[in-house]
Amino acid sequence: MTTIYLIGFMGSGKSSIGKKLSEMMDVTQADTDIFVEEKHQMSIADIFKNDGESAFRTYETEALKQITDKIISTGGGIVEKDVNRSFMRKNGFIIYLQTSFDTIARRLQNDQERPLWQKNMSDQKKMYERRAEMYKSCCDYIVVTDNKSINEIAKEIINLLK
Ligand code: S3P
Repeated sequence: MTTIYLIGFMGSGKSSIGKKLSEMMDVTQADTDIFVEEKHQMSIADIFKNDGESAFRTYETEALKQITDKIISTGGGIVEKDVNRSFMRKNGFIIYLQTSFDTIARRLQNDQERPLWQKNMSDQKKMYERRAEMYKSCCDYIVVTDNKSINEIAKEIINLLK
C-alpha cells in the first residue's frame, strides 16, 4: 500500500481521521507534529518560540522524509515548502481534508497551542485562502469534512482508495 498523506488547514481533523483510518485499515499512522516534538523534545509552541518558524519548517521536512508509517497526518503548513509538496506527490497519495473557515474558527476558538492561530481573524482568513489553493493544487483527492463524523470521513477515504 502506498503512503497516504492527509493535508489541510489547522483543525481540519488530520490527526483524528489519521488515527481512525489506521484502526479501520490496520496500518500504522504518524503525525509530523508529534514526530518533531519527540525528536526535538519540545512542544510545537516552544519550538516556534525558541528556534523560530523557519527552523520548525526544516524539522517538518525532515519528519516527512523519516516517517515510515503508511498514514501520515501532516501539519497545516506542510504545503508551504515546494520540496514537501513534491516529496508527497512522488511518494504517496495526498488527501486534502477541506473544512470551511467558519468550522475551523469555531473549533479553534479556545486554542492556545497553535502559534499560528493566535493572530487576528482577518489574517487567519487570508492564510486560509492562500493555503486552500496550495492544498488543492497538490492533492489527489478533496474530501469535504463539514458536518460529517470522523467515521463517515474515514469510510469515504477508504472507498476512494478502492
Ligand atoms: C501549523 C499547523 C500545526 C503545526 C504548527 C504550524 C501551520 O499543525 O504544525 O503549529 O502552519 O498551519 P495542525 O495543522 O495539526 O494544527
